Amino acid sequence: MTSRRKFISLIGGGIVVAAGAGAAGFTLTRTPKEAIRPWNNPGASYSDMRKRFLSYAILAPNPHNQQPWMVDLSRENEIGLYIDKTRLLPHTDPFNRQITIGLGCFLELLIQAAAEEGYLAEPLLFPEGQSPQSLGDEPIAIVNLRKSNTVAAEPLFRSVLDRRSLKEPFDLNRPVESSVLDHLEKATLEGVFVNSTNVPRELEALREISWQAYKIEIQTPRTFKESIDVMRFGKAEINANPDGIDLGGAFLETLMFFGMLTRENIGEVGSTAYKQGLDMYREMLFSSQGYIWLVTNENQREDQINAGRSWVRTNLAATEAGIGIHPISQALQEYPEMSDLYQLIHKTLAPSGGTVQMLGRLGYAPLTPPTPRWSIDHKIKSV
Ligand SMILES: Cc1cc2nc3c(=O)[nH]c(=O)nc-3n(C[C@H](O)[C@H](O)[C@H](O)COP(=O)(O)O)c2cc1C
Repeated sequence: MTSRRKFISLIGGGIVVAAGAGAAGFTLTRTPKEAIRPWNNPGASYSDMRKRFLSYAILAPNPHNQQPWMVDLSRENEIGLYIDKTRLLPHTDPFNRQITIGLGCFLELLIQAAAEEGYLAEPLLFPEGQSPQSLGDEPIAIVNLRKSNTVAAEPLFRSVLDRRSLKEPFDLNRPVESSVLDHLEKATLEGVFVNSTNVPRELEALREISWQAYKIEIQTPRTFKESIDVMRFGKAEINANPDGIDLGGAFLETLMFFGMLTRENIGEVGSTAYKQGLDMYREMLFSSQGYIWLVTNENQREDQINAGRSWVRTNLAATEAGIGIHPISQALQEYPEMSDLYQLIHKTLAPSGGTVQMLGRLGYAPLTPPTPRWSIDHKIKSV
């Protein structure tokens, strides 16, 4: 969503003026209503409680909004969670670490949604084993559901529909208060170590690292292509494929109409779209007013799942506190071109060892609309 609005102001200016008053009406028609329908009263239409809970789980943050989850509902009171191997990101996430974190976010929202109805959702992780190299056809988790008198509703769940990964420039005049950082740090689960900063000198260093890392991703053809391949251009594409990186809205669609923004020219080094995209990202990254990061001692699949559970809890705590949070993962990615920055970010954020699983920038900005989702009906594994 960021790209779209900032692109508007950066490369859309001329056309916007030319489009004049007619633009307002056009804007009203450009919301991809179908694609964001799953955010509207999730689960309301299902009598199967599992589908009700899963209707919240699918709203989880996940890398490139790939929504790589599949579920098996063939056994009563049970949800089998599997990976859709067509939705991995082999170039930027070669060991499926980030994809696994996204599945952790999914499981946490599933657990919270079940608790709302007095159900205990207990995931048994990787019951048939795991590999540190890649995810396979074996289950990620088997989640058992049972009614319980002792399960308590999770207060963070109240923010589930307003939660966003806020990909926006943050208010330069509004620093992040230390009390807010303390609030966010309380949301993580045991075994996941959290740290944060609003110290100007540290902010400067992290802004610079994240900017250098972003440039490497963009300047490495195969990693940039991985993003371009999952971009959805305009309302019709977004509604037809409610996933990936959605580029929509009246102004961006006007640029698409005039051929100024296409799947081809967005990746053309030196093109206006490419240069403005870089400027836009730079402005956004350098507006960060705070950072928060999660570290695990080991880097087993369970650690990655726990990091994901903790991340979405942190994200919900941020929503609750009215502060924006935006994951920025480039420097945490494990491909050769990124290895120097990977070392540097680990030396900076985890000096005594461990894996930095998530890094997010913090600050204040208006809430954006929700991102597209496939409904749970599209994610049921046939058995
Ligand atoms: C493991 C992980 C890594 C992510 N890394 C990035 C990132 O580097 N840059 C970014 O803009 N968003 C990142 N995101 C956010 C996703 O793009 C976002 O969750 C997805 O587009 C859905 O949007 P939503 O969180 O607002 O619902 C990441 C999310 C997860 C779970």
